[in-house]
Amino acid sequence: MPDLGSSSSHPYLANGLSRDLRCRSYDVVVVGGGVGGLTAAMGAAASWSVGLLTKAGFDETATFFAQGGIAAALAPYDSPELHLRDTLAAGAGLCDEEAVKVLVQEGPDRVYRLERLGTKFDKLDGQLILASEGAHSVPRIVHAGGDATGSVVEGALVEAMVAGRRVALHEDEFVVDLIMREGRVVGALSLSPDGGFTASFARAVVLATGGAGQLFANTTNPPAATGDGHAMAFRAGAWLRDMEFMQFHPTAFYCSENPALLVTEALRGAGAYLRDIHGERFMLGIHPQAELAPRDVVVRRMKEVMDRDQVDHVLLDARHLACVDLRDKFPTVTQGLRARGVDLCTQLVPVSPASHYFMGGVITDLWGRTSLPGLWACGEVASTGVHGANRLASNSLLEGLVFGERVVHDIERSFRVPGLLEPPEPILSLPATNAPGNSEGDVAAARERLALTMSRLCGIVRSEAALCEARRTVKEIRGALRPPRARVAELELVNLLTLAELMIESALRRQESRGVHLRSDYPERDGRWLKNIAVRRENAGKRSFRVLERGERPDD
Ligand code: SIN
Repeated sequence: MPDLGSSSSHPYLANGLSRDLRCRSYDVVVVGGGVGGLTAAMGAAASWSVGLLTKAGFDETATFFAQGGIAAALAPYDSPELHLRDTLAAGAGLCDEEAVKVLVQEGPDRVYRLERLGTKFDKLDGQLILASEGAHSVPRIVHAGGDATGSVVEGALVEAMVAGRRVALHEDEFVVDLIMREGRVVGALSLSPDGGFTASFARAVVLATGGAGQLFANTTNPPAATGDGHAMAFRAGAWLRDMEFMQFHPTAFYCSENPALLVTEALRGAGAYLRDIHGERFMLGIHPQAELAPRDVVVRRMKEVMDRDQVDHVLLDARHLACVDLRDKFPTVTQGLRARGVDLCTQLVPVSPASHYFMGGVITDLWGRTSLPGLWACGEVASTGVHGANRLASNSLLEGLVFGERVVHDIERSFRVPGLLEPPEPILSLPATNAPGNSEGDVAAARERLALTMSRLCGIVRSEAALCEARRTVKEIRGALRPPRARVAELELVNLLTLAELMIESALRRQESRGVHLRSDYPERDGRWLKNIAVRRENAGKRSFRVLERGERPDD
C-alpha cells in the first residue's frame, strides 16, 4: 500500500492495485482473531469504534488449536516470583525480565477475568485443577475442556464479543499491508473473498496475526500461520527481533498431515514417558525434570536419539496411566489419535518435533507499542521479550491476555494526546498494475520447496553451510516467481519467503547455540551472545540488522 503522503516507489505487496477501493474508518483496527486480537478488540470497543479483520475463521486460529492451557501463579504454593524464575530459566538468558514480571504479576487476574467472561476452567470440588507442563517447577496450568483449552477460551471470547455487539467483524479479509502516511500507520489494506480491496483507516492499528509455523514442513500450526503480520510490519519499516528463534514442539503425531496433530505436553505432565524405538526412556539422566525438561532440551535430545537410530520419530508412552483419566483429561488427543488408528491407552504413539511457536516478532515495549507510530502488536506476532530464546509452555495464551489488555490502555493514553491522530483523508483508488502472477501449481510447488528447505537446513539443527544453502535456495525460489497477483496464496508465499530470509540471516549471525537455536558448528552457549538480533527494512529496501545489548532498544 502506498504511503499516502508520497508518490515515491515503495515496498508494499499491494503496490499498484487496479481496482476501486472500498474505505472504512474506525478508531481502532485490530488484525487477527486469536486471544490477543480478541482481548484488544473487546477492550478497545468499550470506548471506541473497532473493526476486527481476520483472514480465516475463529476456529482456524492458533488459539483455537491450543491444547495446553494457561500458566499463572494461582496456587497457594506458587507465586509470581516462582513463575518469573521458571520463565527466565526456560528463556535461556534472553527474556526481558521487566516484561516477564508484567506477565506473571498480571497473569492471575487475567485468568480470573477470563473466567468471569464465561470460560469454564476445569475444576475439582470447586477448585481450579492445576496441571504440570515442561520446565514449570510446580503445577500451575489451568485447562478448559481437558486438552481443548484453546477452543473453549476462543469460544468464550468470541461469544462475549458478539454479545457486546460493539466490534465490527470482517472475517475472511486477508490484510495485505499496513497503510502508511508520513511514517505513521493509519490503517490496513485488506483483500476480500470477492477479490475487492478495502482500506480500513484507524487512529490505532493493532497487529495480532499470530505466528509462522507454516514456514516448515512439519507444524502444529493452523494453515493461516504464514507470518503475514511479521512480513507486513517489516515492509512498513518496523523493528523486528529474535527472528532466528522458532520453537519446535517435541510431540506432534508423526505423520505427513498439515497441520500435524499436537500431542499435548500436559500428557507428559500427567506422567507419560518418551521412549526411543527400542523402548528406552531417553530423557532420564539428561535433565533433572526428564520428560518435563524445557522444550528445547527435549527436542535436542530427541534429535540426537533419532539421528543415532536413523529414524525420524520417537514414541510417547501413556499406557501405564489410567485410561479413564486419559479419556477424561485429553479428549482432543485420544479422539484425534483414535481417528488415526492409535489407541492412547494401549499403544505407543509415534511422535516427532514440529514447528510450534515463533519467538521472533515485532518489537514492542511493555504496552504493546511498536517502533512505528500508530501501530501496536500483541500475541505471537509481537516480541514483548517474555519468551527469550525458548518459550515456557502455556505462557502464550497468557501473553495474549496480558498484553492485549495493555495495548488497550496504551491506546487510550495515546488518544488523550490532542491533535495527533486525525483520521487521514480517504483515498478512492490506487494506480493500476498488470502483475502477471503465478499459477496455483507453481505457488504450491514453491511453498512446498520452501517448507522442505527450511526444515532441512534451518530447522532444529543449523550450521553455516546449511544456512548458506538455505539462503541460496530461498533466493532461487523467490527469483523464479513472477510479481504476485492479489491472491491470498501468492501473498502468503511472499510473506513466508520474507520470513525465511529474516530467519536465515538472523540464524547465520547468532554464532552459538542457545534455546531453540542449535548450531552444530557452534554447539555451546556463548556469553558474548547474550544479545538480541533486531532487523528492519530501510527505505532503499535493504535489511538493516542490529545486535542489541540486554535491555537496549533499536532506536536507542
Ligand atoms: C501443549 O499443549 O503441549 C502446548 C502448550 C504450549 O505450547 O504452550
